[in-house]
Amino acid sequence: MKILIRDIKKLVQVEDEPKQMVAGADMACLPCIDNAFLLIDGDKIADFGPMDKMPASYETAKGTMVIEAHGRMVFPSFCDSHTHLVYAGSREIEYIDKIRGLSYEEIAKRGGGILNSAKLLHETSEEELYLQALQRVNEIIALGTGAVEIKSGYGLTVEDELKMLRVIARLKETTPITIKATFLGAHAVPAEYKGRQGEYVDHIINEMIPMVAAYDLADYIDVFCDKGFFTEEETERMLMAGIKHGMRAKIHANELDYSGGIQVGVKYNALSVDHLEFTGDDEIKALKDSETMPTLLPGAAFFLGMVYPPARKMMEAGLPLAMASDFNPGSSPSGDMKFVMSLGCIMMKMLPEEVINAVTINSAYAMGISDTHGSIARGKVANVFITKKIPSFEFMPYAYTTKLVETVILNGEVVA
Ligand code: NIG
Ligand code: FE
Repeated sequence: MKILIRDIKKLVQVEDEPKQMVAGADMACLPCIDNAFLLIDGDKIADFGPMDKMPASYETAKGTMVIEAHGRMVFPSFCDSHTHLVYAGSREIEYIDKIRGLSYEEIAKRGGGILNSAKLLHETSEEELYLQALQRVNEIIALGTGAVEIKSGYGLTVEDELKMLRVIARLKETTPITIKATFLGAHAVPAEYKGRQGEYVDHIINEMIPMVAAYDLADYIDVFCDKGFFTEEETERMLMAGIKHGMRAKIHANELDYSGGIQVGVKYNALSVDHLEFTGDDEIKALKDSETMPTLLPGAAFFLGMVYPPARKMMEAGLPLAMASDFNPGSSPSGDMKFVMSLGCIMMKMLPEEVINAVTINSAYAMGISDTHGSIARGKVANVFITKKIPSFEFMPYAYTTKLVETVILNGEVVA
């Protein structure tokens, strides 16, 4: 089947020669075509260009669905390169604790936080876990996300980590969104290992990683390398084991302190290091000339009322930036990438062009799919959305609570 979208007010983020990512000053460049068409053939983008250059045959070809876009814009779907959207229940009670003044770390120390979600997940059947996650996936599809990375990390035992990863695998099979899976056994130290953190790290290395690899359930390995969680040395050991089993690193770093996580990530050629609220000159230096994508999760800083990463300083140093939602029950219970863009603009002083690059091509890179996703380019997967009538692309992050995604096309099919 072919889909022709015609009379597009603006076709956003087009590429004639696809690139892996954009960095530094280039992040402020957003190639667009005014008054454009987009042709989709099967599940791929076949062609695009200005309306006055559109071959007449595109409209008349048999079996082509023609969508009139007048006044609407077309964007490549968002790529959300960091989420924890497979989880059981919710944690609004801790939200109240936070309102009353407890910090994220204090809640975690009391056995709440991630351990709270782990307990709930253990008590929830795999089917129920799948159904809850499916609802979240459908929600983010309607909000314009076309690719999502999902982590384990609320299992913390071999069985429960595998349960989470099987749910992710089932979502891959049963939903039209592109999914990458990440093993995050090192999300927190489970209660049974309290005071024996090193033994839990050994357990991850000797039992969990080989099992996850044997079932081929994860593309990447993650570690929460931060104050109060896992140390640099422990992180190194786990990343080495993951890499040995074919899982590239994508880690949580420098959310709560200058944890050394960024440097460890770069040392092991991580695909991305994520959070980065605590990023100074040394961290920027480590990231320069690396292949690691610095990924910001402003939804978590917003929800926890914490500092934001120095996005401008990082771009001025020539770094690329990706942004993702961190969708999870404890620090960011939202997968709304349009709101993530707004936070980038409002709280981190990023330009609309910069945030759009951060949630499309650069976040595609951060989940290892920028060859096929993250821009409008011939041969890429046809994951796009059509907006409501909007005056400009800047209106997307500006109108920060208005739902502006009207039609969603994934793999060349209208799905929402
Ligand atoms: O990315 N930082 C660690 N993990 C998550 C939070 C998980 C939770 O609190 O449930 C995050 O913020
Ligand atoms: Fe996270």
